Amino acid sequence: KDDLVILGIETSCDDTAAAVVKGNGEILSQVVSSQADLLERYGGVAPKMAEERHSQVIDQVVQDALDQANLTARDLSAVAVTIGPGLSLCLCVGVQKARKLAGSFNLPIVGIHHMEAHALVARLIEQELQFPFMALLISGGHNLLILARDLGHYIQLGTTIDDAIGEAYDKIAKWLGLDMRRSGGPAVEALAQEGDAESIKFSSPMKQHKDCNFSYAGLKTQVRLAIESRNINAEIPISSATSQDRSSRADIAASFQRVAVLHLEERCERAIDWARKIEPSIKYLVVSGGVASNQYVRTRLDQVVKKKNLKLLCPPPSLCTDNGVMVAWTGIEHFCMGRFDPPPPADEAEDFV
Ligand code: KG4
Ligand code: ZN
Repeated sequence: KDDLVILGIETSCDDTAAAVVKGNGEILSQVVSSQADLLERYGGVAPKMAEERHSQVIDQVVQDALDQANLTARDLSAVAVTIGPGLSLCLCVGVQKARKLAGSFNLPIVGIHHMEAHALVARLIEQELQFPFMALLISGGHNLLILARDLGHYIQLGTTIDDAIGEAYDKIAKWLGLDMRRSGGPAVEALAQEGDAESIKFSSPMKQHKDCNFSYAGLKTQVRLAIESRNINAEIPISSATSQDRSSRADIAASFQRVAVLHLEERCERAIDWARKIEPSIKYLVVSGGVASNQYVRTRLDQVVKKKNLKLLCPPPSLCTDNGVMVAWTGIEHFCMGRFDPPPPADEAEDFV
């Protein structure tokens, strides 16, 4: 296993990412090309524009990943690529590139589930992390609580019935007139630090539902109404707001964040009880996906996990947001179990769409 070298390609949303990882967990390279200018121009991810940008940069991103690792494609054991879930136009760019490369160099392909990769990257950073473990996966498109019993064997304990938490952060950033050159989450987190989290009492979602599912649509509406009632104008960027306006926006950001994360805390606490009935030996809660890079989220969930006598495992922020390392690593896990596809024929690779 230690001799394996896998290239991971990730294009499911707005980041074009590639990385080379060894079987022993050594990260040989990591490259991410983000679409900050497009995010700002369109106020979010526009699939067609995102696809175009992926197509423009994918060859260079993969080449950079190989160069930084001091390797050529010939040295690889396999190519791993995200095949879903995600924007299909964008996924196709990565899959096409992977098939071209694998076809030309006679390499096996490992198709990767994006959310599984978010969870399993924790096993790269913590070699002690054995199955079974729990994972809370929080990103722009997903809110998942899972019990990972073994590789490829996952029980879903909870999911969102409407929006994911990252989508709520992104919308609220937009409504508060925050800088959209980076995604909304970090901007709301930074502004929240200036605000009073108790100033607005948003109600916690789905209190009456004693399950582990999530909902953020109602909280989003509560926040939108609070923004409207305070006459906050998103057209005026936060950088030009008066100090009173700024502190009013900060109070909203902090109050939103408190309740959004409280919802995660409540669901995780219940999910740990559920999971223990199935797998009493669990020791870890993994928290991953873009929103897991939020410091407030980490601190609050650490409290929950301590109370329940578990350990919290959050990958570093660069491995929580979309990246090629998690795809390459998940490729290694599956490859070792013999789960991969044979190399595509070289002549077919060019035509694949
Ligand atoms: O996992 P990810 O990079 O892409 C998806 O698979 O969706 O997650 C992106 C999401 C975005 O909604 C972004 O706003 C959010 O993660 N995010 C954050 C933070 N950093 C990224 N949300 C809250 N606080 C952060 N620091
Ligand atoms: Zn993701």
